[in-house]
Amino acid sequence: MDFFTIIRGRRSVRAFRPDPLSREQISAVLEAARWAPSPHGRQPWRFVVLTSPAAKMRLADAMGATWRHQLALDGQDEATIETRFRKSHERIIGAPAVVLLCLYLADLDHYPDAERQAAETTMAVQSLGCAAQNMLLAAYALGFDTGWMCAPLFCQATVRAALGLAADLHPHALITLGYAARDPVRRPRRPLEELVVHWE
Ligand SMILES: Cc1cc2nc3c(=O)[nH]c(=O)nc-3n(C[C@H](O)[C@H](O)[C@H](O)COP(=O)(O)O)c2cc1C
Repeated sequence: MDFFTIIRGRRSVRAFRPDPLSREQISAVLEAARWAPSPHGRQPWRFVVLTSPAAKMRLADAMGATWRHQLALDGQDEATIETRFRKSHERIIGAPAVVLLCLYLADLDHYPDAERQAAETTMAVQSLGCAAQNMLLAAYALGFDTGWMCAPLFCQATVRAALGLAADLHPHALITLGYAARDPVRRPRRPLEELVVHWE
């Protein structure tokens, strides 16, 4: 596959076949993340890899409990909460591998003012997105698929506690990996003319 075929072909997959991925396949995806650009080259990302059913279950249970609570706070009814909880749980348990992307800020520059510090953190988050995209594209180029779950961002302390992670690791995203159970429907893209707002 050429580069643009990979870019256009990658899709978010939310249901996987049970076929496992090898350690080499997962490592290749992480290797791609490692080469992403980052502010000052500080590589503000750390990866947590889960393939064991017990570990995935522990994470899904913990995040699910927090999510149930948050959905109830939003005023969602019990049936909706149950359905959304079950789907989210299945996505994590049903993925042969999940990689938790954590932001790691300790190596970044430190500023005396909050404004520049916030910009520094934003740059780190931007680069985490670059690392994530490298992972998604690498997996697709290697013949398997990925999904993105933002849930960890909304319950960082819960995720840390469930996996015994250090306090300076900030969970941001869960990337699920495996072979697509079926072809997902793709969301259309806005035309370029709408996206380019100024060109002179
Ligand atoms: C920062 C970010 C957060 C996302 N969070 C979720 C999520 O929590 N659940 C989900 O199913 N998809 C999530 N997605 C995937 C998007 O829904 C998906 O990329 C978009 O609908 C376009 O579809 P495609 O990836 O198949 O092209 C997320 C994507 C990004 C970049």
